[in-house]
Amino acid sequence: MRDYEPYFTEDGSIGLYSYADKDVFHSKYGALTEAWEKFVIPSQLTGKEENLRVLDVCYGIGYNTKALMSFFINKNIKKLKRKNFLIKIFEKLFIKPYNIVSIHANNIISKKRKLLLPIFSIDDNNLNSFLPHIKIDCLEINKEIVELSPLFRTVKTPYEIYSDIVPRIFDCFDSYYKLRELFADVYSRFAPKNRKEIRDLLEIKFKHMHIDTEYKINELVNYILIEKLAEIFGDEYPDANIKKIVTGKKFRRFFDKSLFKYSRFNRFWGYKLSPLSFLSAFLHNIYYLHLSRRYKRADFKTAQSLFELCFYIDDARKTILNLEGQYDCIFLDAFTYTKAPQLWSTEFVAELYRRLSPNGVLLTYSNSVLIRNTLLENGFFVGKIYNKKNDKFVGTIASKDKSKIEHPLDNYELGLCATKAGIPYHDPNLSFESKDILALREYEYRHSSLMSSSKYIKIRNMKDEEI
Ligand SMILES: C[S@@+](CC[C@H](N)C(=O)[O-])C[C@H]1O[C@@H](n2cnc3c(N)ncnc32)[C@H](O)[C@@H]1O
Repeated sequence: MRDYEPYFTEDGSIGLYSYADKDVFHSKYGALTEAWEKFVIPSQLTGKEENLRVLDVCYGIGYNTKALMSFFINKNIKKLKRKNFLIKIFEKLFIKPYNIVSIHANNIISKKRKLLLPIFSIDDNNLNSFLPHIKIDCLEINKEIVELSPLFRTVKTPYEIYSDIVPRIFDCFDSYYKLRELFADVYSRFAPKNRKEIRDLLEIKFKHMHIDTEYKINELVNYILIEKLAEIFGDEYPDANIKKIVTGKKFRRFFDKSLFKYSRFNRFWGYKLSPLSFLSAFLHNIYYLHLSRRYKRADFKTAQSLFELCFYIDDARKTILNLEGQYDCIFLDAFTYTKAPQLWSTEFVAELYRRLSPNGVLLTYSNSVLIRNTLLENGFFVGKIYNKKNDKFVGTIASKDKSKIEHPLDNYELGLCATKAGIPYHDPNLSFESKDILALREYEYRHSSLMSSSKYIKIRNMKDEEI
C-alpha cells in the first residue's frame, strides 16, 4: 500500500495526500500559492532583515521554507550578484576570498572603477556582512517526508541522488508506473481538442495562475502544453495570437525557452518524456523550481549562504521544549485540528508564545474559532490574514505586538471565540494521544456552561435585524 498520493494542485505545484493521516498536506488551491499567501507574504518581512530566526512547525516537503527562501533570494538578488562578482574577481587574482586583510565589501562596491587598487583580499564574513542571515528551524515528525524533499541534502552527487533519492520516491509512491499514470492523467486533462481550447487554456493559465510574479508554475504542466501545441501546430504556430502567447516575452516565465528546446530535441530524436525525466520534473517542481532560476542569476552557493537550515525530526511537542532563544517568525502548518489536536493545544501554543520574539509573528492557515481563542487565551493579539487578490481572509496571524495586527478580530468574532466553539484542546505534559485530547475537549464541551456558537449566531442575527 502506498503511503502518499501525489496530486497536482491548481497552481501546478505538487501536493501530497497521506493515507496514514487521512489528510492532505496541501490545499488543492495551490501548495506553493498557499505558502506565499498564508505564510510568506503576511509575515510582513522586507527581505532586508539582518538576522532572522524562523520556526517552520510541520515542514512536510517544505513549501513554506522554500517560498521564504525564494523571497529572500529575490529581495537580495543584487547583493548576491555583487558578492558573486567579488568572488570571481578574487578568484581571477588567485586570491582566496578568505582571511588576510579585512575590508568591508560595501566600500569596495562603491569604488567600482578602482576596484583592484587597494584590495588584497576580503574575508568571508565581510562578504556576507551586507547580506541577511536567515536561520530556519524545521520541525517534522516524519523523516521519510523530509527526505522526499530534496532540500534535505543527504546526498551529494547526481549518482547519489539517483541511487538514493529515486528509489525512496519509488518506494513512497509504490512504483514509477504510478507516476506514469499520473502523467497520463495530467496529459488527458491538459490535452485540448482544438485550437480554441488551447487558447482558452492558455488564457486561464495566464489569468488564474499568474497570481504574482513570485509564484512559479510546474514546468511539467508547461511541458505538456508545449508538446500538445507542437503536436497540433508543429514548430510553426500559424495563429499569431497563439504564437504571441507561446513565445512572447511577457509569457516567458510560463514557457521557458529551454522547455521548447527540450521538446524540440525530444521530437527530433523521437523521444517521449521518459519516467526519469518525468521524475526529474517532479523533483524540479518540488525544489529546484524555486532555486534553479536563481542559479542562473546568482551562484547557487552564494544564495545558499543566506540560509542556515536545521531539521528536527521528532514530535514537535518534544522538540519545542529543547529549542533555545526566540523566533521572529513562526509558521504553524499542522494538519487540521480534528486530525492533529496535539499541535493546536493550549499547552503547545503556550510554548510557541514563549518562543516568539516581542515583535515576531505567528502565522497559520486556520481560521477556526477554536484556534483563534487558544491564541487569545495565551496572550496573543490575534488577527486575520487578508488576501487582497480574492478579497478573503485566508488564515490567522498572532503576535505579542499589537501593531503587527492589521486586521484584528472584530467584536462579533471575539464574541464567537467566547462561546463553546472556542474551548481549547488540552494536552497536559504535551504527551497525550490525539484521541485522548479530543475526548478531553468533548467532555469539557458537554459540561460547559458557555453559550453554544449556534445560539450566539442566532442572537446576533436577531439583534442585527432589530437594528
Ligand atoms: C499539512 S502538512 C505540512 C505541509 C508542509 N508545510 C509542506 O510545505 O509540505 C502537516 C505535516 O505535519 C507533520 N506532523 C504531524 N504530526 C506532527 C508532530 N507531532 N510533530 C511534527 N510534525 C508533525 C506531518 O508529517 C506533515 O508533514
